[in-house]
Amino acid sequence: MSQTPDPIDDFTRIEDLPDHVDETVTLKGWLHNKRGSKGLYFLILRDGSGFVQCVAAEDNLDDTSWTAADDASQEAALAITGSVSADDRAPGGYEIQVSSIETVGSSGDYPITPKEHGIDFLMNNRHLWLRSESQWAVMRIRNRTIMAIHEFFQDRGFIQMDAPILTGNAVEGTSTLFELDYFDDQSAYLTQSGQLHGEAMAMALGKIYTFGPTFRAEKSKTRRHLTEFWMIEPEMAFYDLDMDMELAEQFVSHVVQTVLADCKAELETLQRDTEALENVQAPFPRVSYDEAVDILRSDETAEMIDERIESIKQEKEDLETEKEENQKERGQAKKWRKRQIDQREIEINKRIDEIEEELRNLPDWKESAQTFEWGNDFGGSDETVLTWHYDRPIIVHRFPAKIKAFYMKRDPEDDRLALGMDVLAPEGYGEIVGGGERATDLDFLEEQIEAHGLPQEVFDWYLDLRKFGSVPHSGFGLGLERTVSWLCGREHVRETIPFPRTIGRLHP
Ligand code: 4AD
Repeated sequence: MSQTPDPIDDFTRIEDLPDHVDETVTLKGWLHNKRGSKGLYFLILRDGSGFVQCVAAEDNLDDTSWTAADDASQEAALAITGSVSADDRAPGGYEIQVSSIETVGSSGDYPITPKEHGIDFLMNNRHLWLRSESQWAVMRIRNRTIMAIHEFFQDRGFIQMDAPILTGNAVEGTSTLFELDYFDDQSAYLTQSGQLHGEAMAMALGKIYTFGPTFRAEKSKTRRHLTEFWMIEPEMAFYDLDMDMELAEQFVSHVVQTVLADCKAELETLQRDTEALENVQAPFPRVSYDEAVDILRSDETAEMIDERIESIKQEKEDLETEKEENQKERGQAKKWRKRQIDQREIEINKRIDEIEEELRNLPDWKESAQTFEWGNDFGGSDETVLTWHYDRPIIVHRFPAKIKAFYMKRDPEDDRLALGMDVLAPEGYGEIVGGGERATDLDFLEEQIEAHGLPQEVFDWYLDLRKFGSVPHSGFGLGLERTVSWLCGREHVRETIPFPRTIGRLHP
C-alpha cells in the first residue's frame, strides 16, 4: 500500500484496494490480460502499483462500456469503474465488478504476448518489456533497495555526496576507461568509481556515501557486467579494515531484510525462493584469501562439485518425467488446466536449459578450483564454489597486492597482501561489494601511482589528502544491479536496470 494517499490522484491505485472494499472506485491503467467471451470478460488491469482482475458482464454494462471491453486488446489503456470485493480466489485477493469502462488509448498488435520470447527480442523491446509482471516486480525491488540504502546510511549519520561523473582520474585500472575529448586537448573519462573524491569528502565530513552511475568499458560479455552501473560507495575517516567489514555486513543485511519484509508480493511474482535470503544476517564468515585458496583446492570442494553434478542430473530426470506426465494429461484436460500445463512446460524447459549449461560447465569449474594458483584473482566460478561452503554471504579479505588497485594499504603483517575485502553473495551471485583500507603513506602512494603507470600530476590533489591531517580510513563499493539481481533471483544483471548498457547494447 502507498504510504500516504496522493492528494493529486483523482482515481484509486490498485495497491490501495484493501482500503476500499465494498466501495465503488475508478481505476486507470492498461489491459494486461483478457479471458472469456460470450457476455463475460475477465480483464486483468495493471496500473504500476499492482494487478487486479475486473469482471465485466455484458448484462451490467451499457453498450459503450461493453464495446470497450470487447475491443480492448493487450496494453489498451482503460479507465474502469466498479465495486471492490475481497475474494481469496482472485489473484491478489481483490476483484472489481465492473460498472463502466472507458477506452483512454487503444492498443495495436502488441509484440510481447504471454508466450515465451527469446532474450534478444525482449531486450530490443525493453521499452515495452518493462510493462511485464516480472519486470514490474524487479523494478519495484530495485526501488525498495535504493531507499533501504539511503535509510541505512542516513540513520547512521552518513552524508550523501555526489561525485563527479566527468573526471580526469582512472581509479580502477586503465583498461576499462571510457575516454572522451575534453576542452583544450585534455583527456576526460566517465567515472569508474567515486571513491577518490569520496575520500576527499570523508576528510571534510567524516562519514559519506556516494550513490551514482559509474562506467566501465567491459569488453567481456558476462552475466555480471554492465558498462553503465550504479554504485554506492561509503567512505569513513578513522575506520580500519575490520570496521569496514563490519559496516559492509550490517549494510548488506539491512538491505536484504528490508526487501524481504516489504516486497513480499514482488518476490512471490518472481518465484524467488526466499529461504537463502532469510539467512542473510550479520556477522558474515570472514575468509582470508589464503584460506579461500586452500578451500578451493580441497578434496571437500571436489566432492561438492561431484555431488552437485549428481543432484542436478537427478533434478533434470525428475523434470523430464513431470513433463511427460503433463503431456499425457493435456489431451483430455480442460482449457484452464491446459494453460497451466503449458505455463509449467515453459518453466521446466527453462530450468532444463540451465541445468544442461551447468552440467557443461561444472568440469571446468572443478579444474579451475583444484588447480587455482596463489596470486590469481578469483573467477566467477571460483567465487560460486567458495560460497557453497557457507550458508550466507562471506567476506574474503587480504588479497595479493598485485591484483588490487593502487590505493590499497598493505598488510603490516605481510607486505605481499593488500588490506582489501570483497563480499561474495551466495547462490552463484558472486562479488557484490569490493573495498578496503586505504594507503595513507605519501611516498608509498607516489610509488604505486608510478608502478601502475598512472600520470602523477592528475593525482596531486588526491595526495594532498595525505599531507594535511591524513588519517586511517576505509570504504567500499556495492554494485546496485548485482545486488538487485541476487535479491530477485535473476540470473543476469541486464534485467535489473531499466535500460541496460552492455558491450552490444546501446538501444533502446
Ligand atoms: O570492486 P570494484 O571495482 O571496487 C571499486 O570500484 C572501489 N573503488 C569501491 C570502493 O572501495 N569505494 O567495484 C565495486 C562493486 C563490485 O563489487 C560490483 O558489485 C560492482 O561494483 N561492479 C559492477 N557491476 C556491474 N557491472 C560492472 N561492470 C561492475 N564492475 C563492478
